[in-house]
Amino acid sequence: MYLGPARILQHTGLTPAVREMVLEAPQVATAAAPGQFVHLAGDWERDPLLRRPFSLGRVDRQAGTINVFFRVVGRGTRRLAALNPGQTVNLLGPLGRGFSLPAGEWLLAGGGLGIAPLLFLAEEGRRLNRPLTALLGARTGAELFGLSAFQEACGAVRTATDDGSAGRHGTVADLLDAHLEGRDLPGPTVFACGPKPFLRRAAGWSSRGLRVEVSLEENMACGLGACRGCVVATPGGGYENVCTSGPVFPATEVSI
Ligand SMILES: Cc1cc2nc3c(=O)[nH]c(=O)nc-3n(C[C@H](O)[C@H](O)[C@H](O)COP(=O)(O)OP(=O)(O)OC[C@H]3O[C@@H](n4cnc5c(N)ncnc54)[C@H](O)[C@@H]3O)c2cc1C
Ligand code: FES
Repeated sequence: MYLGPARILQHTGLTPAVREMVLEAPQVATAAAPGQFVHLAGDWERDPLLRRPFSLGRVDRQAGTINVFFRVVGRGTRRLAALNPGQTVNLLGPLGRGFSLPAGEWLLAGGGLGIAPLLFLAEEGRRLNRPLTALLGARTGAELFGLSAFQEACGAVRTATDDGSAGRHGTVADLLDAHLEGRDLPGPTVFACGPKPFLRRAAGWSSRGLRVEVSLEENMACGLGACRGCVVATPGGGYENVCTSGPVFPATEVSI
């Protein structure tokens, strides 16, 4: 695991809502697996005090770079958005446990910024020769990102938007249900990432015999399993740290 500075090589507004930052981080790129995340802070010292977690969105092991995609929602992301190429961020990672990369067909389903970790997963799936389908949702067509990369990696890519401006009028959960309804078992492994209501709906497919893996988001302080600030309840009545046991879990192992 790496802790130290990472130079910003590129920083762009990819869509009106989504920013992409490319970081020089060879140690992280070499060790990273899809579904893992990095914990980032700028050089703003103590305001905000804590690092912020972001999924590894793309990884170029040869170039030694990683890409993160983010939306500005508060102080940390606003300050991150103000940084320019040539400046550095303080980076801890790669952190957490990622997707399981099983044999067979993969169905990648992501909503909003939940699309980000699926990009890395799609590129890994193509490298491993897995049959891939991507289902992607966003509020508007302008908020969908990474489409050309998904199209290169996946046999099929379907989209949905809340306002109907691109793809199906509806949510990624609707796309998922429509895609899986009536399919014979064994179906694909489902990898879901996005808002909790979507993850709950995706998790419902576990009870119909599909393996579903969900990527969870919780507020994180340490990112290392020490503070217990990020726990998720388990069906057995216990708790797991999202930062170290996750953020990716089999849907049957967490109460979302
Ligand atoms: C494992 C993991 C991976 C993540 N990957 C990404 C990613 O790839 N891209 C990305 O944009 N974000 C991602 N997030 C969420 C990101 O960490 C938060 O958006 C960020 O920490 C917010 O920091 P802030 O200081 O700007 O906002 P804060 O000031 O901390 O919060 C501002 C507002 O945003 C809300 N908020 C905070 N975190 C979240 C969240 N996770 N989801 C929804 N609302 C939130 C708060 O409740 C508050 O209302 C990830 C989170 C986790 C745990
Ligand atoms: S963030 Fe501290 S235990 Fe997970």
